[in-house]
Amino acid sequence: MKPGIRFHPEALGMGRWRGGPQFGGMMASVVLVLAACQGGGTDGSPGDGGSAPATSAGDGGAAAWTPEEPITIVVPFSAGGPTDTVTRLIADPMAAAVGGEIVVQNVEGAGGTVAAGQVADAEPDGYTVLMHHIGMSTAPTLYPDLPYDPLEDFETIGLVTEVPMTIIGSPEFEPNTLEELTAYVEENIDTVTYANAGVGAASQLCGLLIETATGLDLTEVPYDGTGPALDDLLGNQVDFMCDQTTNTTEHILAEEVKVYAVTTPERIEALPDVPTTEEEGLGDVQVTVWHGLYVPAGTPPEVVEALTAALQTALQDQNVIDSLADLGTAPVEQDLATPEAHTDQLQSQIELWRPIIEDAGVTAS
Ligand code: MLT
Repeated sequence: MKPGIRFHPEALGMGRWRGGPQFGGMMASVVLVLAACQGGGTDGSPGDGGSAPATSAGDGGAAAWTPEEPITIVVPFSAGGPTDTVTRLIADPMAAAVGGEIVVQNVEGAGGTVAAGQVADAEPDGYTVLMHHIGMSTAPTLYPDLPYDPLEDFETIGLVTEVPMTIIGSPEFEPNTLEELTAYVEENIDTVTYANAGVGAASQLCGLLIETATGLDLTEVPYDGTGPALDDLLGNQVDFMCDQTTNTTEHILAEEVKVYAVTTPERIEALPDVPTTEEEGLGDVQVTVWHGLYVPAGTPPEVVEALTAALQTALQDQNVIDSLADLGTAPVEQDLATPEAHTDQLQSQIELWRPIIEDAGVTAS
C-alpha cells in the first residue's frame, strides 16, 4: 500500500456504522466470573430484566440447546481493554438468554492469535467461545505460520459491534493537533513511542495506516492489550496510540489525554468536538474495529443457533445499547449478527487486508 491510498468506508466494514449518543459515564467492568443466572448482573445485583431467554435465532421458536455447564468466552486481549469491555457487556444478557452461565477468560498474546488458536483446538461443544475483532481477518496475512484458519477452523456466531478508533496522546505529550503530531513525530522519530497491542491488534493496524499515510516509521511498544497500554499512556510512559472509543471515550471527555482525531468518515455523537482524520488532513487513516463471536469448527448447528439467538437477544438489551452508545458505538443490526452475514464479512475482510498488509511489508515473523 502506498501513501495516498484511500480506503472506501464500505470496504472497511464501516458502511453500517452509526455513532452512539453522548457519553454518559460507563465504566469498563473487570469482573472475571459472571454469575449470569436469569436476570443477574455481573456485580451480583439483579439485572435489568430486559433479556428474555433465547429461543431460536430471532424467530421466537423453542430453544434447541441449553447449556449444562458454564460457557467460557475467551477474550484475546487484557482485562479492562476494549474487547474485554464489549464482551463483559453482552455476557450477562447472553447468559440469561441461553439459560446458563458465562465466564469471561482473558488469554493474551501474539496480537490475539494465542486465544484464537486455543479456541480453534477446543472441543466443538459450545462451551468455548471466542470473542475476536478485525484481527481475525488480518492474522492470516500477518502470521505466515498461523496455526489456524479463521474460515476453516471456526463456525461464526455473528457480528457484535463496530467501534471507531481515536488517535490520542499522553497528557504531557507536546503536540495538540494531528498536524502538530505528525510534524513532532518526524522531528523526534528516535524518541517518540507508539503503544499498541501487538501484531494483529487493531491498534497496530491503525498505526500501520498512520505509517503508510505519513511515511513515518513508528517506534512501537507492544502490550497484551490496549487496557494496560492506555494506563501507561495516562502515566506518560508512552507518547501516543490509536485505540477504540470503548476504551478512550471516558478519558477524552475527562480531558485526561490529548485527542487528535477519530478514524471515522464523520464525527461521532459521543465525541462531537473531536475532528475526523479527514478534517485533520489524514483522511487515509480510516478504520472501525468490528467484533465477532466464534466457536470451533464442528460445533453442532443447534448449538450455533442457540448462541446466535442469545447474541441477538443481548444486542437488543437496553443496557447494552445505552452502554455502547456512551462508548461511541452501537450493537450491529440483527441481520449482521448471524453466522452467514459474518462469515461473508470475515471472508471479504481477509481479502481486503491481505494486499494492504503485504504491500506494507509487515509480518509477525
Ligand atoms: C484490546 O482489547 O486490548 C484491543 O482490542 C487491542 C487492539 O486490538 O488494539
